[in-house]
Amino acid sequence: MPNGVSLSLTGPMAGAGTNPAAGMALVGCGSALPAVSISNEELSRRVDTSDAWIRSRTGIGARRVCGPDEPLTVLASQAARRALEHAGWRPEDVDLILLATSSPDDLFGTAPRVQAALGATGAVAFDLTAACSGFLFALVTAGQYIASGAVRRAVVIGADQLSRWVDWDDRRTCVLFGDGAAAVAVEACAAADTGLLGFRMRSDGSRNACLTLAQTDSRAALLGELSTQKGGFAPIHMNGQEVYKFAVREVPAILQELLESTGVAPAQLDWLLLHQANQRILDAVAERFAVPAERVLSNLAHYGNTSAATIPLMLDEAVRDGRVLSGHLLASSGFGAGLSWGAALLRWQGPPG
Ligand code: ACO
Repeated sequence: MPNGVSLSLTGPMAGAGTNPAAGMALVGCGSALPAVSISNEELSRRVDTSDAWIRSRTGIGARRVCGPDEPLTVLASQAARRALEHAGWRPEDVDLILLATSSPDDLFGTAPRVQAALGATGAVAFDLTAACSGFLFALVTAGQYIASGAVRRAVVIGADQLSRWVDWDDRRTCVLFGDGAAAVAVEACAAADTGLLGFRMRSDGSRNACLTLAQTDSRAALLGELSTQKGGFAPIHMNGQEVYKFAVREVPAILQELLESTGVAPAQLDWLLLHQANQRILDAVAERFAVPAERVLSNLAHYGNTSAATIPLMLDEAVRDGRVLSGHLLASSGFGAGLSWGAALLRWQGPPG
């Protein structure tokens, strides 16, 4: 086995033996973005950078940024509400809300706030943290609850507000990230109709230091000689070159495994739906599988890296503008801090935008 801990599955999902409705159909999507957009030119007024440098190294042209009165709960709830509307569900139809985020409003959990905002009174709601792999990991997790028969309808949200945790004076990181939220509505279906045709998930904590949003080493006096750790996090720290090398090595490898195990050839894919971190990473993966550029989904130019939100945000945009159609096959991969990475073969079955 390669580095890291691995989980994978292909074909009928876990639980298929006990539950005849063991498939998971992707039937709705929605997204929400803050209104404020900051261009590369604007950012170059704050840090020593340029539009030419950022575009040529990353493909990013602008990013959306939340103001102080725009909590993650609001963005995530808007995205989820739109996914419910798209699927034609009422909030009370939802059994499970999974919120993939690394930038919660509340470390005890932000998903319950989203549940309350939606009025999804019958849903259990909790957060899941796996950085930029978070949405993919959450989608697979929802798939397991559905496959076991425990849950019939779920909303999987990817939402991040890394503007809170970026050092806006560090040009190596602040140009990369943006804020956003997006969600997918998934429901039980017959195993033969599943939209989650296979997946792979990996973690390698030995490389954690490559990309961190870590607790600061700050102490608070408690009693006499006793002290405790004081809560608080340092800004995002990243070894960009290591993360880049990790991505261009591991993403093609995990996608290759997934395609081989599902018996799907790259030419059968309608779309590559990758985490939007860097256009050069997207291009490298596409080249490896000889997927033409017009079948590689990318919106980096407008939004940058919105962490857990990138994959559903891209999916929502492409469904709404009519590129992704019902029945289309998508190979998706999320990767990032942890380090964590994963891939899933998906079939979109929802209505048009
Ligand atoms: N503007 C201008 N110059 C810059 C900037 C900037 N914004 N940032 C770095 N530079 C400079 C550096 O200081 C360095 O200058 P020096 O040679 O004088 O020291 C030079 O550019 C080259 O720096 P590198 O770090 O070698 O640049 P590189 O080509 O590797 O690009 C980048 C950096 C874009 C960050 C790239 O490494 C990358 O995309 N890595 C992957 C990042 C990523 O995807 N992270 C998110 C993962 S997802 C998640 O989980 C959050």
